[in-house]
Amino acid sequence: MATVALAFSGGLDTTVCVPLLKEEYGYDEVIGVNVDVGQPTEEFDEAEETADALGLDLHVVDAKEEFADLCYDAVKTNATYQGYPLGTALARPVIAEAILGVAEEQGCDAIAHGCTGKGNDQLRFEAVWRGSDLEVIAPVRELGLTREWEIDYAAEKDLPVEAGDGGVWSIDENIWSRAVEGGKLEDPSYEPPEDIYEWTAGPEGETTIEVTFEEGVPVAIDGEAMDPVPLIQYLNKYAGGYGIGRTDVMEDRMLGLKVRENYEHPAATVLLTAHQALEDLVLTKNERSFKKGIEQEWSEKAYQGLVFAPVVDALDAFVDETQDVVTGTATVKVSGGNCRVVARDSEYAVYSEEMASFNTEDVAGIAQEDATGVAKYHGLQERLANDVKAGVEKPELATDGSGAADEIDDEN
Ligand code: ARG
Repeated sequence: MATVALAFSGGLDTTVCVPLLKEEYGYDEVIGVNVDVGQPTEEFDEAEETADALGLDLHVVDAKEEFADLCYDAVKTNATYQGYPLGTALARPVIAEAILGVAEEQGCDAIAHGCTGKGNDQLRFEAVWRGSDLEVIAPVRELGLTREWEIDYAAEKDLPVEAGDGGVWSIDENIWSRAVEGGKLEDPSYEPPEDIYEWTAGPEGETTIEVTFEEGVPVAIDGEAMDPVPLIQYLNKYAGGYGIGRTDVMEDRMLGLKVRENYEHPAATVLLTAHQALEDLVLTKNERSFKKGIEQEWSEKAYQGLVFAPVVDALDAFVDETQDVVTGTATVKVSGGNCRVVARDSEYAVYSEEMASFNTEDVAGIAQEDATGVAKYHGLQERLANDVKAGVEKPELATDGSGAADEIDDEN
């Protein structure tokens, strides 16, 4: 008996896949897998009802903790892609692994998803699945299905889909972000109505939030220790109430399509802002600037669903090395839809108030006069290059052995 495991959400696409996998692909049995990365409970209820009505055996896997760990890797890396904290992108490999786990444990021959051929998710899922021995099936893409065809087919087969299906917007929600697309939002010049937002209130009021980090990992909010999943969920509610964490981006998908996306991600905004602020205090300039490139590369790979790539392990190794000192607190002020750092504190601060102060003379052997020599040389090459361009005669080499540096000094 041939069995296929299907990524099942209970939406139109995955619902029509159930009979199609039997009729068009000849499988005897389809099992559904729904992976919990923090979707709203209604989504699970819906998936269960639909599965019941279809007579589909539905497995639910809770992967919230694995997902939260990956979100914390993203915090350590200050990861965003084109301004978006990567909620959907980071969730996909976690979901793909969980489904593959069920498929293997149930002795399936194949594994299937309901993604279309236009989006990123088909690539993210298959990047994981094609590493297994199972056959990979993408019915919607392979059979060239359209939404209209699916609606007619569902009616004809009497499949349990809501008439009109799913409301105006296409929404993807997990603990790290809520993504809204489709409908009128596809027009980039259309301003989103307030009702696309569910996590973020209209910006009102003001509060401060202190985040405590240990080696780059958030461990407490306002002094209260919390585990990753509840910490993220708490911040989404609390900070979301002050309207922060909305982005409206033109996003470049992997296939080259530019799409308009709207996101809500209050917890991600607070944690990323606070983490960056603490790093600014404890890392050296060289670490900070080199890490920017690492972050960019990591975020690209995360967007592509390739967090399991060897290069990401190597990037993580660099990031982890820098995080040893990212221990302390950062406080953000949340108001007017805005989140900005107002305080940071760490025993590892690469900072000396005494040295930086204008009032103190000669601390730790630092005296103003010492900077004179540095000031003479600063910009030396640029001045020389400009003189060359302007045709100014170069200083003659001294013949008395007193050295060229003196000559250049005199010129300037
Ligand atoms: N474009 C985003 C990504 O690929 C998120 C897509 C979210 N899906 C949705 N139905 N809103 O990461």
